Amino acid sequence: MIEQFLGGRTASGIAASAEAAIRGGRLVPGARLPTIRLLATELGVSPMTVASAYRELARRGLVVAAGRRGTRVADRPPLPVRTRVTVPKGARDLASGNPDPRLLPPLNDALSRLDVSPEHYLDEGNLPALVELARAQFAADGIHSDSIAVIGGALDGVERVLQAHVRPGDIIAVEDPGFVRTFDLLRPLGLRLEPVGLDDAGPRPADLRRALDAGAKAVILTPRAQNPSGAALDEPRAAELREILTAWEDVLVIEDDHAAGVAGVPALTVCDATLPKWATVRSVSKSLGPDLRLAALAGDSTTVARVEGRQQIGTGWVSRILQRIVVAFWSDRSTARRITRTGHAYAERRTRLIDALAERGIVAHGRSGLNVYLPVSDEASVMAGLLQRGWAVAAMERWRIASGPAIRITTATLMPQEAEVLADDIASSLERRTATYSA
Ligand SMILES: Cc1ncc(COP(=O)(O)O)c(C=O)c1O
Repeated sequence: MIEQFLGGRTASGIAASAEAAIRGGRLVPGARLPTIRLLATELGVSPMTVASAYRELARRGLVVAAGRRGTRVADRPPLPVRTRVTVPKGARDLASGNPDPRLLPPLNDALSRLDVSPEHYLDEGNLPALVELARAQFAADGIHSDSIAVIGGALDGVERVLQAHVRPGDIIAVEDPGFVRTFDLLRPLGLRLEPVGLDDAGPRPADLRRALDAGAKAVILTPRAQNPSGAALDEPRAAELREILTAWEDVLVIEDDHAAGVAGVPALTVCDATLPKWATVRSVSKSLGPDLRLAALAGDSTTVARVEGRQQIGTGWVSRILQRIVVAFWSDRSTARRITRTGHAYAERRTRLIDALAERGIVAHGRSGLNVYLPVSDEASVMAGLLQRGWAVAAMERWRIASGPAIRITTATLMPQEAEVLADDIASSLERRTATYSA
């Protein structure tokens, strides 16, 4: 009985008891809370007190109101609860979406060459060398780079840019299927998600228009290595989306280029420098390693100034030690060659599996990035079938809004000889073969 975890005589007391239960793992993500009436009776308080507690929990993103189905604990409440995919012992992990650690450049080499003399508190923490290297990379891809900020990863950038412009209650257009952690980030900010369907070339123009018509104040999109679908913009699509976005007054556009360097396709952008509010965030997580926690952000001068200004009064800057490591890698030719090879390796691993599936009559997606995306009719049964055969893959249930069921197979470490075996096992696990995905 969930009620036994909940107590208190006031709204804040009840909310605190729910928070403690979520933090302690007694109330797990997705768990249904008692109805307002039932809990009020149990605790001997008025329904208004319980309703106010639930509202407070919802405002903070700990619970979600699920209409007539009541209130449930958020899938990813902003508390340190374990929500990572747990891969059963002995199963081959194709679920977690990580880069192949063997393909990341060796940190020890870079560290041994570093000058890490102590720093004081700094007014201006960005290393000019890093900013210049980032600027050159953006410029090489035709991305306007007069204003650059250095932030703690792609998601940190997305959050900071949103906070610079949007307010709780605003509608944000997101890709569907889309990166679940982006969804998880938006909900506690009080933002409402509006899905934009995808195909292999990225967001569908008609869907983007519909989301903008629905009142979206911002659009978050992944120009390449879309997670989970692997979609990547091509020139015509980028131009079409750019035209829609430039015609739309005042919409904020955020590009999450989380797999820059190893996505396997060129960087295209929908951000025209004439857009009033835009940012392109480029992370080093996939090319140099997720623990570097660093990304560069290019954007219009107002957005970048707001992001930097807020950063300066909070964390201050991204550690210069991390910045120096990235400068060392970015200025090193052999690292550049290694990153190019890594991009090719990921492309080959993805394509091997997609081709092996195609030979078995199964259509899977993955134009770029670290994953292959496979629409299925029943996620749970395919997952179970694959697990029985020793493969752990990810169900997309939480990654989609209006799009259909699918599984995501991280191919970052998948060896060519494994691709054939996996394709056979997928074929056996599929109940019914589906070939399209759409919102
Ligand atoms: C679409 C997308 N955005 C952001 C991230 C996280 O990037 P970072 O480590 O730079 O925060 C990921 C990680 O897989 C991702 O898939």
